[in-house]
Amino acid sequence: MAKILVLFSTLLLATPLCNAQLAILAQLSGKKYFGTATDNSELTNTSYVAQLGNTLDFHQLTPANSMKWDATEPSRGTFTFNGGDAIVQQAESRGQLVRGHNCVWHNQLPDWVTAGNFDNATLLSIVQNHCGTLVGHYKGKIYIVLADSVLLCVVSWDVVNECLNDDGTFRQSVFFNTTGLAYIKTALRTARAADPKAKLYINDFNIEGSGAKSTALMNLVKELKSEGVPIDGIGVQSHLIVGEVPTTMRQNLQDFADLGVEVAITELDIRMNLPETPELLAQQEKDYQTVISACKAVRGCIGVTLWDWTDKFSWVPGTFAGQGAACPWDENFKRKPAYLGIVKGFLSL
Ligand code: G3I
Repeated sequence: MAKILVLFSTLLLATPLCNAQLAILAQLSGKKYFGTATDNSELTNTSYVAQLGNTLDFHQLTPANSMKWDATEPSRGTFTFNGGDAIVQQAESRGQLVRGHNCVWHNQLPDWVTAGNFDNATLLSIVQNHCGTLVGHYKGKIYIVLADSVLLCVVSWDVVNECLNDDGTFRQSVFFNTTGLAYIKTALRTARAADPKAKLYINDFNIEGSGAKSTALMNLVKELKSEGVPIDGIGVQSHLIVGEVPTTMRQNLQDFADLGVEVAITELDIRMNLPETPELLAQQEKDYQTVISACKAVRGCIGVTLWDWTDKFSWVPGTFAGQGAACPWDENFKRKPAYLGIVKGFLSL
C-alpha cells in the first residue's frame, strides 16, 4: 500500500492532470468514498454531468434537495420521489453510491407540517410515516460498498438534520417544540425498521471543532445508545470559511468516532470573501488539505462529500452576500488549487 501511495503521489504532483483522482485516493486512504452533492436542475448541463459521472473523482452522490420533505411529501400522505429517483438513477448508471438526505429537518418543510398545529401523538405518527415511507422507498438502492470483494448493500441516511443550536441547546423546531426528543428517537427507530441495513446518521454544521455543540451531540449519541435507539453515524457537514478551519478538527472527529459511531464529512465547502485572489486560493488549498488530512487520520471517518464540486452551482453566494468560490472546481469546471489540497490531504503531504 505504501509503495502504491508513493507512486500515486509522484504521478499526481508531477502531472496534475493525470487520471489518478480523488475517489481513488480516498479509497487508497482506507475511506469508503469521495463524493459530491448534486441537484436535479444541474443534470441538464452535459459538461457538468460528464464530470459528475467521473468515478475517478466521485464514488458517491448526495441529492442536495430532492429527497427533502417539501420535495417528497408536499401534501400529507402524498409522496413524490421523481427528483430523488433521477439522482439515484444517475448514480446507479455510473456505479456510484448515494447518501440519503434527509428525513427530518426544520427547513424546507411544507406548510402542512409547520402550520398543522398537530399534537404530540399526531406529529410523531407523521414523522413515522414520512421517514418509513422515504427510507423504505430507497431500501437497498443506496450506498452499496465493495468490501473485501463482498458486495454489501447498506443504506446511509441523514435521518435527523441540524437538531442543535450552536450553544448546544436543542433547536426550537416544530418537531422539538411539540415532541421534545421523541421525534429524533421515532425517526431513527422508524428508519431502522424501514431498512435494517441502513446506516443512520445525525447530520449537523458547526460541529467540525470541539465546543458546546459538539459536546451536546456527543451527549445525545450517548443518550440514544443507552436507550437502545439506533444511531450509526455523525455527519459533520463542514461548511467552512477560508483561514478558519478549526484546529481541533482531527481530535473532534476522533472523539465522535470513539463513541462507536461512524463519522463522515457530508457537505464540505470552504468559502471566501470575493473577489478571489491568489492568496485566498492558496489558503483555501491548505484548508482543504487540513480537512482531508483530519478525516484520513481518523479511522472511523469513512468518507467525504463535497457540497457540489463546482462554484457554478454552489449554494454559498445565494446565502452569504459577497462570499463564494467555495468549491474545488471553478465556475468553468476548471480545477482550482483546492483540488490539489484534497490530493495532498489524502497523501498527507
Ligand atoms: O425549487 C425552487 C424553484 O422552483 C424556484 O424557482 C427557485 C427560486 O428561488 O427556488 C427553488 O428552491 C430553492 C432550492 O434550493 C432548490 O434549488 C430554494 O429557493 C433554496 O432555498 C434551496 O436552497 C437549498 C438549501 O439547502 C435550503 O436550505 C440549497 O440548494 C441546498 O444546497 C441547501 O443544502 C443544505 C443542506 O440540505 C443541509 N445543510 C446546509 C446546506 C446548505 O444550506
